[in-house]
Amino acid sequence: MKKLIAPSVLAADFANLQRDSEMLNKSEADWFHIDIMDGVFVPNISFGMPVLKTIGEHAKKPLDVHLMIVDPDRYIETFADLNAAVLTVHYEACTHLHRSLQKIKSCGMKAGVALNPHTPVHLLSDIIQDIDVVCLMSVNPGFGGQSFIENTYAKVKALKQLIIEKGASTLIEIDGGVTDQNAKALTDAGADVLVAGSFVFKSDNPTETIARLKAL
Ligand code: DX5
Ligand code: ZN
Repeated sequence: MKKLIAPSVLAADFANLQRDSEMLNKSEADWFHIDIMDGVFVPNISFGMPVLKTIGEHAKKPLDVHLMIVDPDRYIETFADLNAAVLTVHYEACTHLHRSLQKIKSCGMKAGVALNPHTPVHLLSDIIQDIDVVCLMSVNPGFGGQSFIENTYAKVKALKQLIIEKGASTLIEIDGGVTDQNAKALTDAGADVLVAGSFVFKSDNPTETIARLKAL
């Protein structure tokens, strides 16, 4: 499978969300990555439902919603109503992960699970077959523009092995510090989806940057 690129709207210009959404529509981006932070699970607050609604009115590609919030079950239906295609919850925020994933799927969305950098992938061995996308955090969640954590390569390889062993069809997504310096090594290790925020939106020509990442 050709890898997917999911630019993170967290790094877009919030005063020009329509313009930046249209740029993504015309680019080779595959998904819109949407970071929802609650100031409790992570030490930052990003944006919430009204802003996501506005993005959704302009986006012509699937919305990949990454919830960095405690007790995400409270909002699963709300994000389905906001047209999320993939809804990702954090392993560390879910006491009953299996139940959360079933609820996400019953609302018509793909179910994602994100792992913080310290959380080992083997903790997913009894649930991997129920997960559509595993999002490996390659920075500590909460902020864009941080440096990539090198241990991520080992986690991608271990996760890929687990997926193969269990006969699952889970996609591997990498989130945080993705650039043209690590994109190819990540896909070579088994990554299917690359999230990139600052590297795309802070570049001189975001459309070209997306095309470059896609081609690597
Ligand atoms: C971090 C977010 C990421 C972030 C990535 O908590 O989950 O999606 O926006 O941004 P960059 O690519 O700048 O690290
Ligand atoms: Zn994210």
